[in-house]
Amino acid sequence: MADETSIFLGASRKPDDSYQRAEQLLLQYGNRHGLITGATGTGKTVSLQILAEGFSNAGVPVLCADIKGDLSGIAMMGKAQDFLVRRAEQVKLDPYDFQEFPVIFWDLYGKLGHPVRASHGGPLWIDYAGPPRTVPYISFIDVYKNRFDPAVPALEEFLTVQGRRKFVRPLITALAKDQQWGRPIAVRIYTRTRASYHAVTTRDLDKLGLIPAQK
Ligand SMILES: Nc1ncnc2c1ncn2[C@@H]1O[C@H](COP(=O)(O)OP(=O)(O)O)[C@@H](O)[C@H]1O
Ligand SMILES: [Mg+2]
Repeated sequence: MADETSIFLGASRKPDDSYQRAEQLLLQYGNRHGLITGATGTGKTVSLQILAEGFSNAGVPVLCADIKGDLSGIAMMGKAQDFLVRRAEQVKLDPYDFQEFPVIFWDLYGKLGHPVRASHGGPLWIDYAGPPRTVPYISFIDVYKNRFDPAVPALEEFLTVQGRRKFVRPLITALAKDQQWGRPIAVRIYTRTRASYHAVTTRDLDKLGLIPAQK
């Protein structure tokens, strides 16, 4: 089956549906482009899983964009079930054993997993909660530059808990200048957060006219 130089993919079948042979991906060709197509239920996801597992066992890190969570099961040990054992015999997968793979979950929102950078073409976003504090500032610049909606809640939260002028002023100012996309967001945030900002900060930000003149 899988050896040092290849990943076991599955068994191909003859036209009469009988077993033909084991099919492998040679690791030396593992850097090529590939495309898996097929109707629903034809085994695309399972193929991706077995590829990810094979690469992992070969010491190759795998990054999966797993929108539906289909692939996440490889993080847990499987259990023997009759139909699986039968199938393993059919495809001559021997030994048929179970393994849990080392998995790090990345999460766009940084809530259910490791915060991920997301992008409209380039890396964008880093978690803002952890040190160093200047990193989120850089990444939030990308949020408004790219009008990156998914990160707006995090940006709002950042500007709510983070009152420092150094962060707040340029971010809110930039949002305010983007009339179409950013300004409504700036109005919403500043209306809520103004009271918690230092007077020196609000003196500048009030000039943006986001909220009615303050007495
Ligand atoms: N090589 C295989 N041998 C046996 N059953 C398989 C195989 N590949 C997939 N299956 C089974 O077929 C079903 C659909 O497979 P899946 O990979 O989810 O399909 P797809 O992603 O193409 O919709 C699953 O229940 C899976 O267990
Ligand atoms: Mg699928």
